[in-house]
Amino acid sequence: MKFFIDTGNPDEIRAAKEMGLLDGVTTNPSLLSKENRQYRELLTEICEICDGPVSAEVTSVETDGMIKEARELAKIADNIVIKVPIIKAGVTAIKKLESEGIKVNVTLCFSPTQAIIAAKAGASFISPFVGRLDDISSDGMRLVREIITIYDNYGFETEVLVASVRHSMHVVEAALMGADIITMPFNVIGKLLKHPLTDIGLEKFLADWEKVKK
Ligand code: E4P
Repeated sequence: MKFFIDTGNPDEIRAAKEMGLLDGVTTNPSLLSKENRQYRELLTEICEICDGPVSAEVTSVETDGMIKEARELAKIADNIVIKVPIIKAGVTAIKKLESEGIKVNVTLCFSPTQAIIAAKAGASFISPFVGRLDDISSDGMRLVREIITIYDNYGFETEVLVASVRHSMHVVEAALMGADIITMPFNVIGKLLKHPLTDIGLEKFLADWEKVKK
């Protein structure tokens, strides 16, 4: 299972890399806007830190505009992947960009039918947004399970990239389902490590060590 970091913050990306947990990065316009920097310069820095795929999103909602923006973004670095929203105009853009060798991460996926279209168009990645579905009292992880089953049924090679992750159970469930990739905010890594019995056990070991070390 690959770990991507869902952020536009270079310090978080460096920290994940130092921990050996950085397989890729996903950004979106909202994440990049938090950094208050020129986006090309910021994406260039991120691509230098991360050896794996770095997703950058187009903002046009027309096919031609998406393709034009994607070609420009792809010039930033070899590891740029283009995020395209799963709308009608995006489908032709996915097909065209993939045929040119520009990898596409299909974003804002909220249904299995959208995931089928993305795979048939030849997308490299599909991003089901699990947290945003949970936010509206739907079941985000059910969508992931359905996409994995459908892709397995037909041998689609599009990688399932679980996105909009909020907490540890999203990571556990995605791993149990065999999702290819999970992208998570940096703070979720801390949550994955946290266990009260680890803290209690460590405190006791350190206290006992104080008694014998003299
Ligand atoms: C994924 O690629 C998106 O950038 C991200 O996971 C969206 O997460 P959010 O729903 O927490 O904004």
